[in-house]
Amino acid sequence: MRLDKFVCKSTSLTRSDAIQCIQHGKVSVNGETVKDERSQVHENNSVTLNGTALTPRPFRYILMHKPAGTICSNVDEAYPSLFNGTRIEHTEELHIAGRLDADTTGLVLITDDGHWSFNITTPTKHCEKVYRVGLSRPIRDDAAALFHAGILLQGESKPTLPAELYIVTPKEVILTITEGKFHQVKRMFSAIGNRVTSLHRERIGEVLLDVEEGKWRYLSENEVASFKAA
Ligand code: URA
Repeated sequence: MRLDKFVCKSTSLTRSDAIQCIQHGKVSVNGETVKDERSQVHENNSVTLNGTALTPRPFRYILMHKPAGTICSNVDEAYPSLFNGTRIEHTEELHIAGRLDADTTGLVLITDDGHWSFNITTPTKHCEKVYRVGLSRPIRDDAAALFHAGILLQGESKPTLPAELYIVTPKEVILTITEGKFHQVKRMFSAIGNRVTSLHRERIGEVLLDVEEGKWRYLSENEVASFKAA
């Protein structure tokens, strides 16, 4: 990782304070002063700040139940950030593996490990995302077949990957997809003449949502590993 990120992940310094320390010659890597904050360092390198050894905090893997009316952003925008009131520290280091719309609720996975989140978000890994969907009209009889075959969404050049539809009631369904195009679920139903009235993510891969709205927990080691193996 970059040297300034390493310093931030090991201290409570902001990115700009870390850069200042590096540029002022206070940071050494394997005994040599390094003044370029863009230098790459490995986690095993010996990095010191004013002679004190730095150890980066371990990666974090968090499951959260996103409430409606919050956004998947580190900072408040038109709606409050989903981190508001959670007391999760150093949120600026975290990112969300598969964002939800402001009006969507449910499971979000949050981390500072970019390699791990890639396994969740890239369509090539076929990681399942399961949504409970409320609809404005009764579902069409041929919807499951259409979704399985793939739908060409407006503005896209390729159809969606095969998706599985389970009908709970005529206006409530469970949809499993393995990719995450912009507003994908809403656009899929719109493409077959319906409209999503409520959207809730229940599962990602093997991880089920099991905390109340607005609450969060760390993933277990097995849950973290389940995505590495995927
Ligand atoms: N698809 C959508 O349309 N919205 C979401 O929030 C997630 C998936």
